[in-house]
Amino acid sequence: MTDQTTPDDLAPSPAFSAHANGTADLYAQADADFEGFWARQARERLTWAKDFDQTLDWSNAPFAKWFVGGQLNVAYNCVDRHVEAGNGDRVAIHFEAEGGDDFGSRALTYADLQREVSQAANTLESLGVTAGDRVAIYLPMIPEAIVAMLACARIGAPHSLVFGGFSSEALKARIEDAAAKVVITADGQYRRGKALPLKPAVDQALNGVESVEHVLVVRRTGGEVAWNERDLWWHETVETAADTHTPQPMDAEHPLFILYTSGTTGRPKGILHTTGGYLLQSAYTNSIVHDLHPETDVYWCTADIGWVTGHSYIVYGPLANGATQVVYEGTPDTPHNGRWWEIVEKYKVTILYTAPTAIRTCMKWGHEIPEKYDLSSIRVLGSVGEPINPEAWRWYREYIGAGTAPVVDTWWQTETGAIMISPLPGVTTLEPGSAQRPIPGVSAEILDDEGTPTHDPESVGYLVLTKPWPSMLRTVWGDDDRYRETYWSRFGPKYYFAGDGAKYDEKGNIWILGRVDDVMNVSGHRLSTAEIESALVLHDRVAEAAVVGATDETTGQAVVAFVILRQGASHEGDDNTAIVEELRAHVAKEIGPIAKPRTIMVVPELPKTRSGKIMRRLLRDLAEGREVGDATTLADSSVMNVIQAGLGN
Ligand code: WT7
Repeated sequence: MTDQTTPDDLAPSPAFSAHANGTADLYAQADADFEGFWARQARERLTWAKDFDQTLDWSNAPFAKWFVGGQLNVAYNCVDRHVEAGNGDRVAIHFEAEGGDDFGSRALTYADLQREVSQAANTLESLGVTAGDRVAIYLPMIPEAIVAMLACARIGAPHSLVFGGFSSEALKARIEDAAAKVVITADGQYRRGKALPLKPAVDQALNGVESVEHVLVVRRTGGEVAWNERDLWWHETVETAADTHTPQPMDAEHPLFILYTSGTTGRPKGILHTTGGYLLQSAYTNSIVHDLHPETDVYWCTADIGWVTGHSYIVYGPLANGATQVVYEGTPDTPHNGRWWEIVEKYKVTILYTAPTAIRTCMKWGHEIPEKYDLSSIRVLGSVGEPINPEAWRWYREYIGAGTAPVVDTWWQTETGAIMISPLPGVTTLEPGSAQRPIPGVSAEILDDEGTPTHDPESVGYLVLTKPWPSMLRTVWGDDDRYRETYWSRFGPKYYFAGDGAKYDEKGNIWILGRVDDVMNVSGHRLSTAEIESALVLHDRVAEAAVVGATDETTGQAVVAFVILRQGASHEGDDNTAIVEELRAHVAKEIGPIAKPRTIMVVPELPKTRSGKIMRRLLRDLAEGREVGDATTLADSSVMNVIQAGLGN
């Protein structure tokens, strides 16, 4: 591979810049008149049923209101207006089933989408769902997931997606917290060529839950399913419903969705996003960062719909822009390791948005695999979810982007709703490994320990956002205090604290250095150490547990757990293989397979400070096989020796 990327290669080509949506003058425009800039974007990019009177109301900070007085319907903006503009025949979704064409691959045009979303909206209304009611969605990556989300948006019922890899316990907690009225799920899902059940997890989750009146079930795998009185088949309800529906305008600040994400405590936070600002910023960034040209591009975001990336960059951003996109049901290695590249070739994908962990996995499989396919259609590559190491960045550009496609490393969060820090592919001279600078309309700083902005190259600090932005979270569902406390108190009330460490380089590029709180990032998925610790101590053989994220070559970080077993549960010199396997399975059951620890070490003690706080830094040293750092603040300084002796280090 040619690793000799010269600075010239990293500047945008004049041909690319000439057609790029994102232009240099946007920065100046946004700086000159922040609110005016966003107001203009909102009026140009979205169709309002009623224009807004005020761009931003920040008087009740940190509770923002954007586009006050405005009204719009999200589903109308994502679907109907494209049909009205004469683009009903344009493919919105090329659905690629994991098993290929025999397993239901199909194309949905914008006109198809309009009919299906209308049918689903009519069905939800007939089930008594009205504006403000919550609908939980627990579905695999199938078109019905997108249809269900848009149907909710159409009638103003906030959806709460729960990733299909979460367990019934995790699903239950989320359904209960949002007090969902309806759950939309499927009989099963295809995963690595196998049909796995999904509905049993819902049945189990609903045990003792009062709020749920109906469960709408999509038939995906065709397996046997247990049936309850509240259950309804999607094909017997939605698919027989009237296929026209009039979208009702919603207030710009009407809740659009809740999405749960892990924080520093054991309880996930329901991040609340609203209508106008969220839709605007997801559409705006999809246009200027991914450089989406809806008439000519075929866009593909490989995220799952259950995460925020799927919300903003499969559903709302691209559809608001009238994109043609690929939606793929399966994994990159089913039935073979070239599956993704086969899909790129099949649909002539021009824009690909994926995660560093996937890129590193493909690197491991070898460049010979993508080289077997025609990837010449690709013209923009995006990365999201965790810092992308320069080596993976270069490999991505070289072997997927023919050495020329711009790679945009996009930093954002579930809370920010949309991309915040990223190069613009037609403007920015790229820097492999860096997310570079805030996009036009967004402002960030790096603060030192005292909370003072620092611009010194290489001095490591805390990443903060200095102004409200349209797609910002509005609160934590049902917990305004937690919202204020988590995001606006550390350096507040002026700064939004993102939880990430960052630094500038000599050229003024921002480098994101990872979480500074007890949150891990495993394969681009956010996991909380506290949540996994709580799951571990629920097991009757565990007395105490501490979890850290250890650097992992493929997944970025990996979950490593240290557990103290209850007395009598283990003896020195015992082989702990059985209990370790049992505990890994236990975590998968409590939270989901994604949270399963890579490594569990059975230890006699945990390193604690005098105030009883576990010193994770020392455990991280152990987990990463490093020499253990300064342990002088431990209550008992011999503990680390005892632990190391037990682990045979
Ligand atoms: C955390 C947010 C954004 C959607 C997927 C994850 C990390 C995300 C980057 C990036 C470095 C990144 C941060 C952030 N992160 N993108 N380009 N470079 N770090 O959403 O689960 O809300 O996690 O992911 O640590 O805080 P999320």
